[in-house]
Parts: sequence; structure tokens; C-alpha cells
Amino acid sequence: MEYDVIVIGSGPGGYTGAIRCAQLGLKTAIIEKYPTLGGTCLNVGCIPSKAMLDSSEHFYNAAHTFAEHGIQLADLKVDLNQMVVRKQGVVDQTTKGVAFLMKKNKIDEIHGVGTFVDPHTIKITKADGAEQTITGKNIIIATGSKPLSFPSMPIDKKRIITSTEALTLEQVPKHLVIIGAGVIGAELGSVYARLGAKVSFVEFADAMIPTMDRTMGKELQKAIKKLGADFYFNHKVTSVENKGDEVVVNIDTPKGEQMTLTGDYCLVSVGRRPYTDGLNLEAAGLSTDSRGKIEVDNHLRTKVPHIYALGDVIRGAMLAHKAEEEGTFIAETIVGQKPHINYKLIPNVVYTWPEVAAVGYTEEELKQEGIPYKTGSFPFKALGRARASMDIDGLVKVLAHKETDELLGVHIIGPRAADMIAEAVVAMEFRASAEDVSRMSHAHPTYTEAFKEACLAATDNRAINM
Ligand code: FAD
Ligand code: NAI
Repeated sequence: MEYDVIVIGSGPGGYTGAIRCAQLGLKTAIIEKYPTLGGTCLNVGCIPSKAMLDSSEHFYNAAHTFAEHGIQLADLKVDLNQMVVRKQGVVDQTTKGVAFLMKKNKIDEIHGVGTFVDPHTIKITKADGAEQTITGKNIIIATGSKPLSFPSMPIDKKRIITSTEALTLEQVPKHLVIIGAGVIGAELGSVYARLGAKVSFVEFADAMIPTMDRTMGKELQKAIKKLGADFYFNHKVTSVENKGDEVVVNIDTPKGEQMTLTGDYCLVSVGRRPYTDGLNLEAAGLSTDSRGKIEVDNHLRTKVPHIYALGDVIRGAMLAHKAEEEGTFIAETIVGQKPHINYKLIPNVVYTWPEVAAVGYTEEELKQEGIPYKTGSFPFKALGRARASMDIDGLVKVLAHKETDELLGVHIIGPRAADMIAEAVVAMEFRASAEDVSRMSHAHPTYTEAFKEACLAATDNRAINM
């Protein structure tokens, strides 16, 4: 065999796995069908969306909060083109960084579509049609996911768009209709609402981000409503039509009536599907399950033992950091180590403002599983730090075991929640109790004091500042 490991797909899971393999002395190749490395996350996902979220947040603050801080600005304007140019600069820098890491680690980078010829052989079809065949002792499938759509909402990438097109619009929409009020809807809806678009969410479920703790969805809805958004929960889209310079969304209301929303764009953000097109899995003796996912065991092995799979193409959360952990896990498994991933403690973040971040059980899951629990919560408005920065929306909610006091879930909606959740992950990895956290010194004034206070609240209702 030419390679110890061939990785198909260069997203966060694939490139992290390739680097860890190389660090462990394995001769490694990575195959990527697009010209740049980094996958969905770096090219059209995590990184560009956060760049647009940050730019739009600066604009929103300049327009709405600077005056109260005593900063006067005149003639404030959005230059969407420049925002998109800056975002692309961030993406380019980041994807080039991954290419540098491949070279540094002596990983062979091959561009083209990877296809199984047999369980050890991969054919790569390059953009110019040329073909190359390589063999590997081990193969890691890291081919990620693509946006999901339904026949009633056919994506045309012009008016009926996915997150990818929504990151490169040339004009701020007048009215953006978003189907699905999940993570992508909440983040990209925030971007355009901050820039002045009217945003309407049409959501099948009865709340925003419905799979997270319900308190988070309620609080997030309040925050996004302040940006002027409308919400149509329990509504069902029956069809979406591109009418040239506008798009018409036909909807069934919960009362069984029909309504329409007319916008200039319709963003379809109803989830993502695992992506295995072109892999020719059958040639490797593999198939997908009813949801299109590649089945793996607890060691991330497919039913062909030298072929592994990770990230969005397998079960579990579709998150970059989950895919990264799995990349490391597979590399270490290949060399005979015994790695471990605690899936229950993979944090989940929504980069709106306030940010939403969570780890562990939701209150709904604890109820469903019959686990006895107690709660403690603390609002940011009671914190000096939050009042100083004028970021008073949101709260920390802690769920601890009723008898042992062990932390079971932490849910934060508030300023810098995405960074703050790391403390909860560490505490929970070490199986800390709410009282353990409440007895640790937290610098004053910081947002993190809200976590300590929520833990105090969960420990005999002992919050100090409330
Ligand atoms: P991917 O990143 O999807 O990479 C797979 C790669 O494989 C792609 O480059 C693809 O071209 C390549 N490929 C596929 N088939 C072949 C083939 N046959 N041959 C060669 N190459 C192939 N997650 C977070 O954790 N945080 C966030 O903030 C976040 N924001 C997001 C924002 C948006 C708008 C979107 C869409 C997603 C976001 N995600 C976020 C999710 C995150 O992007 C994914 O979970 C992550 O990219 C999955 O990594 P992966 O390695 O499994 O696959
Ligand atoms: P999602 O699963 O977060 O949300 C989809 C929403 O669409 C759900 O609320 C669902 O109830 C709703 N929905 C489904 N079908 C519908 C229909 N027919 N009509 C109306 N509503 C419908 O999926 P989303 O937002 O598309 O994101 C895909 C994935 O990308 C996420 O699951 C997440 O893993 C990842 N992602 C992560 C981010 C982060 O970590 N910050 C940011 C963006 C994406």
C-alpha cells in the first residue's frame, strides 16, 4: 500500500484526523474535491458566518447602542460588498493556513473527487478530468454534509437559497423569509435583521432552536424579536415559488388556513443531510442507513474494519468540534491507542447576540429520563459587568442532580456565552457539583460570575446578587 491512511474530505474532521495521523508517524494523504481545504466549516460555514455575524453586530451597535455610550456617528451606512470581501479574506487566510499545516506535517494533498474502486483503492477524478489512483491500509471517510431541502422548497440558488448563497448576497434583502428557525436561521437571520432587513421565520416546531433547552429558545426569540423579526411557529410551508424579482412562500397556518409571505429571498435552513455522493460506497462493501448516514461502531469503524467515518456523515451532532474530536480519535485508534470521546459533553453554541451555549442534559431530557434534578438560574441584568457593557439580556441556567448536586446541564444565553461554556465543560468533565463551582473564585467583574451565581442558586438558593 502507498499510504497508511487516506482521508477523503478536508473539513475540520478530515484535516484534524490527517494531522493527528501524521503526528503519529503514519504516511497520510488527504483528498478534497474543491480547490481549497477546510470543508464546509472554513469555506461556507462556521468561519464566514461568524465573520458576517461580527460585522453586522458592529453595524447594529454603531446604529443602536453607540449613542448611549456617548459616541456620536453621522451618515452610518452598510457596505455589504466590503463585508463580503472582508469575510472572504478571513476565509482565504484560514484555508491557506490548513494547506500550510498539510505541508508542515508532510501530508499529501490531492484535489479531486475521491471514489472507491475497492476497499483499499481510491480513484481521484480531478477538475480537468485527469484520474489518479492511490491505495491505503486505512481509509477515513470525512465527506461531511450538504443543505437539506424538500420538493416543496426547491433551491435555485438565486431567490430560494441556502446558507452558502446567504453568505454572499449583493444587497441587504428588504424581506428575507427564513424556513426553519434552527441554528442557521437564527444566525443568518440575525445578520440580515441587524443590517436592516425585515426577517420572517416560518418554523414547523413551536419554538426557535427547538432541540435546545426550551428556556434558551424563549429567550432567544425575545432577543431576535427586538431586531424586528416575525415568527410563524407551527406553520407548514406548502410551496415556494421564484417569481423573478421576488419569492412567494405559501404556508398552512395551525388553524388550517392558507397564507403567503412575499420576500426578495427565501433562505431554506431546515437541516443538513450527510453527503456521500460520488463515493461509490458499494465498491468498498458499504452502504448508508435510511437517513443517508454511514453506520459506525463505538470505535468509528464501518462494517469494513479498516474504513472509518466521522463528522457530519455519521450519527451525532453536526458540529465542527465534534468532527475534530472524531478525527483525533480515529488516528489514535489506528495506532492502537485507546482514545475516548464524551459525546454528552460536546458543547453546542448559537452565535447570535446574546449568544446561546449549552452542554449536557436539557431540562426536557432530564424530565423524559426521570432523572431527579434541581435548577438554579441567574440573569445577566443583575451583573455589574453586564450593565457596564449594556449586555443585560439573558441568563445562566444550571441543572444539577437533586441528590448528589452533580452538574448535569448548563445552558447560557448571554454575552460571550460561547466562550463561557468552556468552564462548564471542564467542570462537568471532572464531575463537579454545583457547590464545587460556587466555591471557586470568579474574577470580578466578569460575565462568568453569572455561572457561579447560578450554581449558588442551585445550591440551597444561595445566590448573592439577586
Ligand atoms: P465538512 O466540513 O462538510 O467537509 C467535508 C469535505 O469533504 C468537503 O470539503 C467536501 O468537499 C469534501 N468531499 C465530499 N465528498 C468528497 C469526495 N468524494 N472526494 C473528495 N472530497 C469530498 N459547526 C460548529 O461547530 N460551529 C459553527 O459555528 C458552525 N457554523 C456553521 C455555519 C453554517 C452556515 C454551516 C452550514 C455549518 C456550520 N457548522 C458549524 C457545522 C460545521 O460546518 C460542520 O459540522 C463541519 O464542517 C463538519 O465537518 P466534516 O469534517 O464532517 O465535514
Ligand atoms: P437545524 O436542525 O438547526 O434547524 C432546522 C430547523 O428547521 C428546525 O428548527 C426544524 O424544526 C425546522 N424545520 C425542519 N423542516 C421544516 C419545514 N419543512 N418547515 C419549517 N421548518 C422546518 O438545522 P440548520 O439550521 O439548517 O443547520 C444545520 C446544521 O448545521 C445544524 O444542525 C448544526 O449542527 C450546524 N450548524 C451549527 C452552527 C453552530 O454550531 N453555531 C451554525 C450553523 C449550522
